[in-house]
Amino acid sequence: MKTEAILLAKRPVGLPGPDTFEFVQRDLPELRDGELLLRTLWLSVDPYMRGRMNDVKSYTPPFPVGEPIRGGGIGEVVESRHPAFRPGDLVTGDLPWQRHAVSDGRGIRAVPAGLTPVTAALGVVGMTGLTAYFGLLEIGRPKPGETVVISGAAGAVGGVAGQIAKLNGCRVVGIAGSQEKVRYITEELGFDAGINYRTDDLRSALREACPNGVDVYFDNVGGAVTDAVVFQMNDFGRIILCGQIAAYNLERPELGPRLFPLFVMRRLSAQGFIVSDFSRRFDEGTRRLAAWHQEGRIQSRETVVEGFERLPDAFLGLFRGDNIGKLLVKVADPEHR
Ligand SMILES: NC(=O)c1ccc[n+]([C@@H]2O[C@H](COP(=O)([O-])OP(=O)(O)OC[C@H]3O[C@@H](n4cnc5c(N)ncnc54)[C@H](OP(=O)(O)O)[C@@H]3O)[C@@H](O)[C@H]2O)c1
Repeated sequence: MKTEAILLAKRPVGLPGPDTFEFVQRDLPELRDGELLLRTLWLSVDPYMRGRMNDVKSYTPPFPVGEPIRGGGIGEVVESRHPAFRPGDLVTGDLPWQRHAVSDGRGIRAVPAGLTPVTAALGVVGMTGLTAYFGLLEIGRPKPGETVVISGAAGAVGGVAGQIAKLNGCRVVGIAGSQEKVRYITEELGFDAGINYRTDDLRSALREACPNGVDVYFDNVGGAVTDAVVFQMNDFGRIILCGQIAAYNLERPELGPRLFPLFVMRRLSAQGFIVSDFSRRFDEGTRRLAAWHQEGRIQSRETVVEGFERLPDAFLGLFRGDNIGKLLVKVADPEHR
């Protein structure tokens, strides 16, 4: 059987372009004992994939050139010679950018029964939610009454992090790239205030939105947005370095204003983390996120791009700010439901 795949054609320099990706037909191997054949239904596109396109030492190995790009996905089991899965099961895990895939079941698990929509397994109740949960609560350690600022606030991780901060009794201010996104975080997600970093004067808007200063900063973005927030940090403020998307396509690091004197004066701390640092506690995080999601205490929109062939452009949309909430690509409908 043949299937369509999208390979990493070459390592991009700066923003990836059409020549970064190659569409090919690939042969799928015959199914052996212990394996399952999956039909891909959904694929998640995520900023960290940009880092895996570079040949650098990191917490995950780079994508090999000439091999399919991979990421979180949801598939339907078409055929199974694996004891844990049956045809029709919906599973989630690390999948190649292919319409069909053969898996030995490692890193694949059932989508939790009753999860609605099932795509929450890639968002609020998946890696996105776990990143927000552990980043905010374990690295940021917010206390009730503190002010938490979130950059990339209308994105997948930022939106969940802000709502968890609200559940913990904090004042929450989000920074995002459009008026529509500011409305989304304040009117739908319940943030106390929102700032449009493209049109507002960031430093004065932050002073106004954070009259008591900033205690915890959940940073998804970096660059000039982060410089502006650091100026408003209170003594002993905590900075959660979750992501630095403003830097992912830079050809060389940007040397902006050097803010470390402020770190000294205000005794700030900044800590990077990777969600997998907390993998031993994923069950706990997933349980709490699923309960909040089910009770409607955490909302999240999805931005859905339809069509396997649109995966590369959907991925690039992350860097244009195309998405509100979790950005997903719908590849196919399930056949067995
Ligand atoms: N540490 C971890 O384990 C971990 C795990 C998952 C994700 N992350 C990181 O968390 C961050 C958010 O990930 P996500 O999946 O939730 O993505 P996302 O926020 O849903 O999507 C990316 C958003 O980033 C904003 N953006 C893009 N380029 C920007 C720029 N130059 N300056 C400012 N904002 C920019 C855009 O929104 P605007 O319209 O607002 O600009 C865009 O919608 C990323 O940095 C990602 O790498 C870290």
